[in-house]
Amino acid sequence: MEKKDLLYEGKAKILYLTEDTNLLIQQFKDDLSAFNGTKKGNFKDKGKISNAIATYLFEYLENYHVPTHFVKQLGDTEMLVKRLEMIPVEVVVRNIATATLAKTYNIEEGKVLDYPIIEYYLKDDNLGDPMINEHHAYAMGFATPEEMRLISRVASKVNAIFKSFFARRGLSIVDFKLEFGKHGRDLVIGDEITPDTCRIWDKKTGKKMDKDRFRYDMGGVDKVYQELLDRIVSTAV
Ligand code: TMP
Repeated sequence: MEKKDLLYEGKAKILYLTEDTNLLIQQFKDDLSAFNGTKKGNFKDKGKISNAIATYLFEYLENYHVPTHFVKQLGDTEMLVKRLEMIPVEVVVRNIATATLAKTYNIEEGKVLDYPIIEYYLKDDNLGDPMINEHHAYAMGFATPEEMRLISRVASKVNAIFKSFFARRGLSIVDFKLEFGKHGRDLVIGDEITPDTCRIWDKKTGKKMDKDRFRYDMGGVDKVYQELLDRIVSTAV
């Protein structure tokens, strides 16, 4: 598939048009950003590792009949994806209290929640991605009630799949963010699923295996991304 004009360049990815108007090439950069783009960094092979992790997780979800925009991996840092009309809502699923949640509600960091929490944020950097609920989404036309119902069902299903997937690798999926879009009449998961958009902790040691190492200057972000990829693809479990 030939890469054509650049369609959009984000903080960690670039989208290119292709000769097929229904398909895009998503390229992962070596860049990292945090706190609404105010903190920036990069490391060698980050794009390659992110592409490999996203490819593995999208393929895994497809095996469980969870629809995603993923079509196939192309090069080291690129995947072919369906072109979507994005729903401007970030969907966060939380299993363990940390960061914003722990602070806002004064819950002990690391507490396993009695039930998973699904939260919605309006995707708008200028507004700082404010939290919304389903009713805001319908009222302001970001998504229909039916789409929000489906989004919530798919997010819960992904959470159930990920909990056991990561548990078998000795890891806890603390929280993660999904984005959804429409491809014709189909509602599918878009964007990426990588350690940039998840929190993953080692079950035994509590070691953080995600972008928090960069956010909070914990060091070794390059090593944990590689270790996470190795554990994800390990066939022993
Ligand atoms: P939070 O605790 O900062 O709200 O983040 C919850 C999860 O969602 C965490 O795994 C990181 C991910 N996330 C993103 O991928 N993009 C974002 O813009 C935000 C706010 C969170």
